[in-house]
Amino acid sequence: MQQIINKICERALSELKGVSDSKSLDELRVRILGKKGELTGILRSMGQVSAELRPKIGQWVNEARETIENALAEAQKQIARRELEQRLESEKLDVTLPVQDRSEGSLHPMSLVLETLLDIFTGMGFEAVEGPEVEYDHFNFELMNIPKNHPARDAQDTFYVDDNIVLRTHTSPVQARIMTTRKPPIRIVSFGRVYRADEADATHSPVFHQLEGLVIDENVSMGDLKGTLDTFAKRLYGEGVTTRFRPSFFPFTEPSAEVDLTCAACRGKGCRVCKGTGWIEVLGAGMVNPKVLEMCGIDSKKYSGFAFGMGVERLTNLKYNVPDMRYLYENDMRFLKQFRG
Ligand code: PHE
Repeated sequence: MQQIINKICERALSELKGVSDSKSLDELRVRILGKKGELTGILRSMGQVSAELRPKIGQWVNEARETIENALAEAQKQIARRELEQRLESEKLDVTLPVQDRSEGSLHPMSLVLETLLDIFTGMGFEAVEGPEVEYDHFNFELMNIPKNHPARDAQDTFYVDDNIVLRTHTSPVQARIMTTRKPPIRIVSFGRVYRADEADATHSPVFHQLEGLVIDENVSMGDLKGTLDTFAKRLYGEGVTTRFRPSFFPFTEPSAEVDLTCAACRGKGCRVCKGTGWIEVLGAGMVNPKVLEMCGIDSKKYSGFAFGMGVERLTNLKYNVPDMRYLYENDMRFLKQFRG
């Protein structure tokens, strides 16, 4: 009997040498040690064995089982290590390979400039507000001191929806909406699309964008306006850029000024962009006309204010040296891709 057990044990150990994967290892385990396995079979046949021999045989079987189990465990370890190595080898990843280009979107240059402008003005304590693009004549013109038949109506070629409703020709009606509903102190910037019946060319478009500012409080002066716009110019285009005020006329401001900035392209030396003058006209501004304050229900003896309005396309083109306004609307990827942040 001992010999039979030893045979089983030896055969198991020699078969084990030929086993190289966990599946065949399991098969071997079941065949020898499983419920119906060879070694277990010996225990089962113990009924026919004499009582004094039984413990002996039990001991031999257990010793054999232990030897085989140890050998199986050792083989299992080696197989696991080999299988892991094989997996690592086959799943090798070359981290130096070039990556596939992900085509990422980017903000439109006008959005970049608008965000910068809003940062600049909210940083100075202005609140950003918006108003409707389809606007009452009342806010767009009347409250801005441009009555019907006023020649200034011709200066802004207007899209009329009907007799009383227009596509706003500037962002100034937002001033009127704020002044008629709030009490001073007021410090707002509004921005958005405006419409004029112009032909599109390098510097005109029937739809463009303005940013408007309005400050109303006691003792607001032209010096405050100048300081505010100087700060804006430096923050947008950098140190060395200043403003120059030229007398002008707007019905809603008195006095009024056209404001030039030092040409950002040549820093005032004179170049093609500024036509040799060193200055670029970018905005209109002035002290809010007392008549406008009164029409909007604000006491013009107690309060004064300043207002300014600028074209966002022009500011954008100056910032990025874009020679033609139409580039901003054509959505040519070759143009837009240059503004990846
Ligand atoms: N609304 C004027 C325009 O569109 C700009 C402006 C705004 C001028 C505020 C003065 C004050 O031309």
